[in-house]
Amino acid sequence: MTAQTRSPQPLIVPATDLVLAQSRPVPQDFVLGVATAAYQIEGARHEDGRTDSIWDTFSHTQGAVVDGDTGDVACEHYHRYAADVALMKSLGMQSYRFSTSWDRVCPDGGPVNAKGLDFYERLVDSLLDAGIAPWLTLYHWDLPQALEDRGGWTSRETVDRFVDYSLAVHDRLGDKVRTWTTLNEPFCAAFLGYTAGMHAPGRTSPADGLAAAHHLMLAHGRVVQELRARDASLELGLTLNFTVADPLDPSDPRDVDAARRVDAQMNRIFLDPVFRGAYPADLLDDVRHLGLEDHIMDGDLEVISTPIDVLGVNYYNGEAIGHEPPAASLSDSVNGGRFTRSPFPAADDSYRHPRGLPVTAMDWEIQPEGLTRLLVRLHEEYAGPAGVALHVTENGAAFDDAPDEDGFVDDRGRTAYVRAHLGAILDAVDAGVPVRGYFYWSLLDNFEWAWGYAKRFGIVRVDYDTQVRTPKASALDLARIIATRRLPAPWAEPDASGAGDESAGESTT
Ligand code: FCB
Repeated sequence: MTAQTRSPQPLIVPATDLVLAQSRPVPQDFVLGVATAAYQIEGARHEDGRTDSIWDTFSHTQGAVVDGDTGDVACEHYHRYAADVALMKSLGMQSYRFSTSWDRVCPDGGPVNAKGLDFYERLVDSLLDAGIAPWLTLYHWDLPQALEDRGGWTSRETVDRFVDYSLAVHDRLGDKVRTWTTLNEPFCAAFLGYTAGMHAPGRTSPADGLAAAHHLMLAHGRVVQELRARDASLELGLTLNFTVADPLDPSDPRDVDAARRVDAQMNRIFLDPVFRGAYPADLLDDVRHLGLEDHIMDGDLEVISTPIDVLGVNYYNGEAIGHEPPAASLSDSVNGGRFTRSPFPAADDSYRHPRGLPVTAMDWEIQPEGLTRLLVRLHEEYAGPAGVALHVTENGAAFDDAPDEDGFVDDRGRTAYVRAHLGAILDAVDAGVPVRGYFYWSLLDNFEWAWGYAKRFGIVRVDYDTQVRTPKASALDLARIIATRRLPAPWAEPDASGAGDESAGESTT
């Protein structure tokens, strides 16, 4: 560990953005932490028995990922996990959301590999020693390639293999981890992977995306049932990613219908089966020609609607949806010249229109008030009646960071983003929505899927040549919020007194 002198270069903040509003209190029981995922940070591709996932195959496919980047090395977290946990501790993180790799625990989707479980047990033990609550996600998109070769998520057999793998993780960690979420963002796994061709495994079939979505949700329900039967005290759930689809012109029925389709095919396609035990009728009408119902067997929806305890909410932005293409579109997808298509299986006349809002480096519009509206809706229509807690499991921003000579990044834009979204959550809490906590995406700069290492979301900078980690200004700000339980206005100057562990600003290797 090397001490660094911090002399952040002041950024010029437009005078109009300097809000001198009072800071507001953060409830004492609101849990703050950071999130990561196995493939994005671990590296160690073939170590200790790990075999390839669909992301290894996809990232090694020419043109699939920007600059040909892969997760072969990533942040070397497999070897540096202890220092990464120490870094989180120094920042005062209360909880850490991570995923386990199916390919480490059950290589090729087959028998259990004890060495893979050893790694996650070491990680969980160090988190517990550091006083950081582990939040475990079983599937963050790294399907074993051997299972994809047998049909992947379009095959019902994959559901059984996911149950085997999940129970193996629970056998080892069941008495150490309290919160278990089955899936991260089944929308992306199914529709970016099997319909849009933008993510692994790179298929471009609307019918395959729907089959994958159903089997993913069946896998979720089966694992919730099995874990509940083993231990009624576990806290179980899943993470969905949501949009807030506003009609571009609310008085135009064609825009209203375009937004309805996006809401159905991204939000309600997962919410309704989980909370209401049925797919939405309008969705079934829209996709009738694509064979979804051929995959729904008797009893599936009862399994999928097995009661959960917590709904993880991933929110980055909402969107204005029109029935005609915009003059200029937001360019937030990348395909390396390969054929890709819309992730929506049946929303051909739904187009996202830029609203002139500020955007991140992903070209994602910055829209914190959408998060407030989303949380209120989820509580009123789904989670509240079911007695299910809400927890924001991802929210964050990529910016083109410019480090100083010490590797320090004075990322005022990201700092303001985090504060604004925390404020949006507290607005929902004030409106009566019980939101229990927030994970920033992500602890580290990491492998951002099809964008490779080109997009940096971390509150900690990673120098990929040296693997040195340097907390950015946003990390120090989040540490201060956790330590003081006060949330400053988005662009307010940081409190010069600092807070938290004295070593929180140091770089680590
Ligand atoms: C989410 C993913 C996460 C990360 C963020 C930016 O969709 O769950 O792995 O890539 O987006």
